[in-house]
Amino acid sequence: MKVTAIVPSAGLGERLNKKIAKPLVLLNRKPIVIHTLENLSKSKLINEIILVVSRNYIDAFRKNIKHFGLKKVKNIILGGVTRSQSVANGLKAISEDTDFVLIHDAVRPFISQKSISEVVKSAKKFGAAILAVPAKATIKKVDLNKSEVVETLNRDVLCEVMTPQVFRKDLILSGYNRLRKFSFTDDAVLLERLGYRVKVVMGSYTNIKITTPEDLIVAEGIVKNFKT
Ligand code: CTP
Ligand code: MG
Repeated sequence: MKVTAIVPSAGLGERLNKKIAKPLVLLNRKPIVIHTLENLSKSKLINEIILVVSRNYIDAFRKNIKHFGLKKVKNIILGGVTRSQSVANGLKAISEDTDFVLIHDAVRPFISQKSISEVVKSAKKFGAAILAVPAKATIKKVDLNKSEVVETLNRDVLCEVMTPQVFRKDLILSGYNRLRKFSFTDDAVLLERLGYRVKVVMGSYTNIKITTPEDLIVAEGIVKNFKT
């Protein structure tokens, strides 16, 4: 069964606030996205990778892919204004013979082979699977206009979801076709809205998303010991 990975990398990283696009920021002297692509490339379960980038950085991405010899990157295409639009563009570029689509954020460099294989396996069995970890923090719903607590959520049932998220091709395509107008921060929600079941596979706390400057400091710590 053929698995195509889509790696949305077209965000600029406003919250990280660096001079270059976030996926190109160096981590242990190598762009974040290269760590990510190397780990995805190592997996025998992933057949090809589609990289989605922003117009201003397309040459920089191309150069890096060539320099680091990432042969599984089959296509580098342009993204959109939102993550959802970037993934939608990626979906248009997948080959006819793809059976499953794996979507993974460029800015999650510490994805392990074990997590990849478990989430792919689960998607092959159930159609849709995502990685998650139990929430560590107590999370409250807050009315930000009033700066007031609305409700405290029961932590025992809360998970922080991650990527990779893996879907049978027809399921994710119908999600994106039918809910085209909306913008979400993950992809599984499209299937949830259409009433499909999404399996949850326990991931690892190491699989952080680099979002704010302190995440980069944590990442510099993880990178020294990370074994794919
Ligand atoms: N992404 C994308 N296209 C966009 C926005 C985001 O492909 N228009 C990608 C990012 O490059 C990243 C992933 O989606 O790999 C997760 O998004 P996020 O962490 O929010 O990155 P940014 O949107 O770049 O950061 P910020 O929200 O702080 O601006
Ligand atoms: Mg964003």
